[in-house]
Amino acid sequence: MEWNKIIAAILVGLLLFMGVTLMSESLFEGEEEVLLGAGEEAASETEEVMVAAGPTFNDLLVQAAANPSAGSFNKCKACHTTDQGGGHRLGPNLFEVVGSTLGSKEGYSYSSAMASKGGAWSYEALNAFLESPVSALPGTKMTFAGIRKVEERAAIIAYLRTQSSSPLELPEVAAPAEEAGG
Ligand code: HEC
Repeated sequence: MEWNKIIAAILVGLLLFMGVTLMSESLFEGEEEVLLGAGEEAASETEEVMVAAGPTFNDLLVQAAANPSAGSFNKCKACHTTDQGGGHRLGPNLFEVVGSTLGSKEGYSYSSAMASKGGAWSYEALNAFLESPVSALPGTKMTFAGIRKVEERAAIIAYLRTQSSSPLELPEVAAPAEEAGG
């Protein structure tokens, strides 16, 4: 009888011990899950905030066209004139180039890539060409690295647009908020 009681007491003790250990482990697991869940939510919220679209090329072009600056053309002056009847330099005279057919200035000897390309110098085509002349028109002889900043390209194209007797219409964009003031 005595031994039976002692063995039973030890077994009950063991069972209790195992039970407490299991319970506390599962409590900890629960806590960890809650913490992880909160972290993931916070991360996806910041991602959403960061995806805010900037102005498009057309927005920037219209903004620049409100106040065109000849200074934006400084990088191009070594090779191009823009005045009516201006001479060709290393590159052709660019009077009325916006909207004109590619490679169509009289008296200038274009690369065959430019001469045979066809199509018109839309704002988009100019934007792509000025970003990287050789990628936009492989074989061009305009040896110019290109302009990486879209704001700068928009400013140059807005200025080129003014070098014309009838500037090409600007693209339609949603009116900026300041315009209401005048
Ligand atoms: C190193 C000289 C050089 C510089 C700098 C240069 N260009 Fe040119 N550009 C050329 C040459 C050469 C051509 C003719 C390309 C061909 O025939 O392939 C050309 C062609 C062009 C054309 C096409 C003209 C047409 O009649 O179809 C445009 C537009 C143009 N350049 C704009 C610019 C602008 C804007 C800049 C300044 C950001 C600039 N270029 C800077 C040499 C230059």
